[in-house]
Amino acid sequence: MSPVTNGRVLFNAIPEDYPVPGTTTVYDTSETIDLENVPLNGGILIKVLILSVDPYMRGRLRAAEIESYLPAFPLGKPLVGGGIGVVLRSEAAGVEAGAHVRGLLAHQEYVIAPNLVALNLEIIERDPKLHWSVYIGAAGMPGETAFMGWREHSDAKKGEVAYISTGAGPVGSMVIQIAKQDGLKVIASAGSDEKVKFMKEIGADVAFNYKTTDVREVLAKEGPLDIFWDNVGGDQLDAAMEFAAKNARIIECGQISGYNNGPQPMKNPGLIFAKCLHLHGFLVAYLRPKHAAAFRAEFVPRLVSGEFKFTEDVTKGLEKVGDVILAVQKGTNTGKAVVVVAEE
Ligand SMILES: NC(=O)c1ccc[n+]([C@@H]2O[C@H](COP(=O)([O-])OP(=O)(O)OC[C@H]3O[C@@H](n4cnc5c(N)ncnc54)[C@H](OP(=O)(O)O)[C@@H]3O)[C@@H](O)[C@H]2O)c1
Repeated sequence: MSPVTNGRVLFNAIPEDYPVPGTTTVYDTSETIDLENVPLNGGILIKVLILSVDPYMRGRLRAAEIESYLPAFPLGKPLVGGGIGVVLRSEAAGVEAGAHVRGLLAHQEYVIAPNLVALNLEIIERDPKLHWSVYIGAAGMPGETAFMGWREHSDAKKGEVAYISTGAGPVGSMVIQIAKQDGLKVIASAGSDEKVKFMKEIGADVAFNYKTTDVREVLAKEGPLDIFWDNVGGDQLDAAMEFAAKNARIIECGQISGYNNGPQPMKNPGLIFAKCLHLHGFLVAYLRPKHAAAFRAEFVPRLVSGEFKFTEDVTKGLEKVGDVILAVQKGTNTGKAVVVVAEE
């Protein structure tokens, strides 16, 4: 077989605010790969099937010298993110052709991994009721974030009141369902009426569009809050602190309102001591060792049975990654954003 194109999505220019598809990232078709003969040197040749596009990726589209919890993407190189691929050839012990791998994959059609560990890859199997995409969504990192963050930090008690921002996304929608299962009253917000409808369908007692409804009016009526799950930061965090009960838990999962325009300062940090608030920041990677077994045993079966619902926003074509990155930052995605690179 003659060499085939190995399409790639390259980090091309650092964005000033929102990423610009075609400028921040470019789709490149200049490389080819000979799938039968390319030397593996003991490694694994992977065909990338599906990639996850997540909010945190915006943080990696930055200058290399700026430090953060993950390194910047190197300019001129392919982006890297969560994904699933199928092994085409393998010279690595314990890895057979035809196996599926999940982990950090370059945004290109074919990847050569020196071994599983180097790319944080694991061999996975899927339940026939769930598509592979679910394993980078509800049954993958976003689902883990909801389950593990809640279990570690919520200290939830039946009858308490929780407010969840970005409640229609892959993280927030799972938090809503876990909180309802724990017997809480759930208030949730999102940025469109369609998302509000979905949040009600999955059990939110109070769901509203934060773009058309004043968050403070809702929280004044439905609070005070015992738990705030923060995916947004900025004004949503300020409002939640204003309407928090004494000893409320604030779970800092993300602050997307600051990802493109810089951090949004907290307006009244004095409320932390005045109300004895408990602020818990976390990164899911650090909670995995403690909670991964429970996630597999208690959470994934609820996805398989259909008890927990999820939505996906599926885009076909690696060349569309730049558009999907922007959609996630702007909120035009409706569900877990995934990009299908290839069929099996
Ligand atoms: N700590 C961790 O380990 C960890 C792991 C995974 C994710 N996270 C964080 O969890 C949050 C949700 O992630 P996800 O994967 O579920 O994302 P997502 O819902 O698929 O996408 C992000 C959503 O954020 C909302 N948004 C964008 N700009 C906003 C703004 N200025 N104000 C309010 N909402 C805004 C949009 O929804 P609307 O239409 O509702 O505005 C958008 O759809 C993010 O902050 C992410 O960084 C943290």
